[in-house]
Amino acid sequence: MDNRPIGIFDSGVGGISIWKEIRSKLPSEDTLYLADSRNAPYGEKAPGQILDLSIKNTEWLLDKGCKLIVVACNTATTNAIDHLRAHYPVPFIGIEPAIKPAALGSTSGKVGVLATKGTLSSALFHSTSRNHASHIEILEQEGRGLVELIEQGKAHSEDTRKLIRQYVQPMVAAGIDHLVLGCTHYPHLIPVLKEELPEGIRIIDCGEAVARQTFRILEEHNLLSSEKDRTIHQFYSNADHKLLSRFLEGVSGDVRVTYLDF
Ligand code: DGL
Repeated sequence: MDNRPIGIFDSGVGGISIWKEIRSKLPSEDTLYLADSRNAPYGEKAPGQILDLSIKNTEWLLDKGCKLIVVACNTATTNAIDHLRAHYPVPFIGIEPAIKPAALGSTSGKVGVLATKGTLSSALFHSTSRNHASHIEILEQEGRGLVELIEQGKAHSEDTRKLIRQYVQPMVAAGIDHLVLGCTHYPHLIPVLKEELPEGIRIIDCGEAVARQTFRILEEHNLLSSEKDRTIHQFYSNADHKLLSRFLEGVSGDVRVTYLDF
């Protein structure tokens, strides 16, 4: 048993989609979430910069005593997870676009992936695609501008809708039957995506699978927390921490949001 918190980081509010799944699957765990919004978007940065930011976030969470780290960001995972696993003594859970289930479920043989430039150009994304989806066609689309809009609190704005339409229409016209959300910010766009996609196209996001994997790894390393009625969830943001609070509206329990000069 280990009552230290689970550490989670992202370039901003995207990883909250993952945090919600972790909280519901692991109700006895405390969590500590770091939103590096000041440096968003990671997806437009060079691989070396993404690695440096991932190291900085990891070391901050480890200093705070986290027992496991969830890299709740596809861009950071695909560019930094091997390095993190090799250099730090805690288990890491990474997030990659869920190409495998989409490829297995596809009947049209065409799957769309909406992700950041940093993810789509990474070696890990290409090896995963080769290993799990070589029998289907993957249509890649960079979601340029979407993370910025979400970080400005404009996930449901007309500007966001226009960009989404521009990005999904060519994939729909090409015949995709699954759309993989390869960025943890994008589940915040699901209401708009559902309106813009024709019926029958499945949206795939990996939050639930990540929460299951987090449970398995904690169990395997004997790191699960003891059962408790009260858990603490601390959120730190180095930009507009009020935005983080808005994304957590309606969440019950001991949730603390703090600005961090980081
Ligand atoms: N939420 C992130 C991801 O999953 C990062 C997006 C960004 O900062 O560009 O890729």
